[in-house]
Amino acid sequence: MIKYYNENVIENIDPSIVKHPMFNDWFEIVKPVLMHDEFQKRKIFFHHFNLSVWDHSILVSFNAYLYSLYFKCDSRVCALAGLLHDFYPWTWQYNEELEELDGGKYLVELKTKHPLFRQHGFTHGKAASINYVKYFPELEDERITNSIKRHMFPLTPIPPKYKEGMIITLVDKLNSSRELPTISYFAKTASSKLKFKPKLEKEYNKD
Ligand SMILES: [Fe+2]
Ligand SMILES: [Fe+2]
Repeated sequence: MIKYYNENVIENIDPSIVKHPMFNDWFEIVKPVLMHDEFQKRKIFFHHFNLSVWDHSILVSFNAYLYSLYFKCDSRVCALAGLLHDFYPWTWQYNEELEELDGGKYLVELKTKHPLFRQHGFTHGKAASINYVKYFPELEDERITNSIKRHMFPLTPIPPKYKEGMIITLVDKLNSSRELPTISYFAKTASSKLKFKPKLEKEYNKD
């Protein structure tokens, strides 16, 4: 049995966010989503590198919320659209634990071959914009829907219609680029996998 649900949801939020002076205001808006069973499953969905969809979505939501205060746009829309922008009904990264969860239904899409333009990057914005209404019908809102649906711009050609959506798109890109492994990580991993290891200076001197 996979354990992912935690009623004390604050324990699963990055402490740097919890300590922020705006945390309580943001938390009031997003709490019902964070407490939902289906959303908590995103703790075991991998996103980029070593971050879960849960962590990534919280980061995008909180940062978008802070930007909304600066740019004077709708904070509630930014917080909710940020949290739900990657709430697609599948996973795009394999995680063994998902084989057990709900009969492996979240892995079906990953195991299905699609032509390029039907692949995750092109389709998940629209899928998330439908999926959030399925689980949170009370939150349905044209600005939230549009911001989620268009967040992959410019990979998908139509830009977000509202400035809240532009914030989600930008914050998502900024966060995603920070989540990628650094060049030094790649160098370390590559060298550890090399069968031929370069000799150290000391070893050369022995010859
Ligand atoms: Fe996304
Ligand atoms: Fe994202």
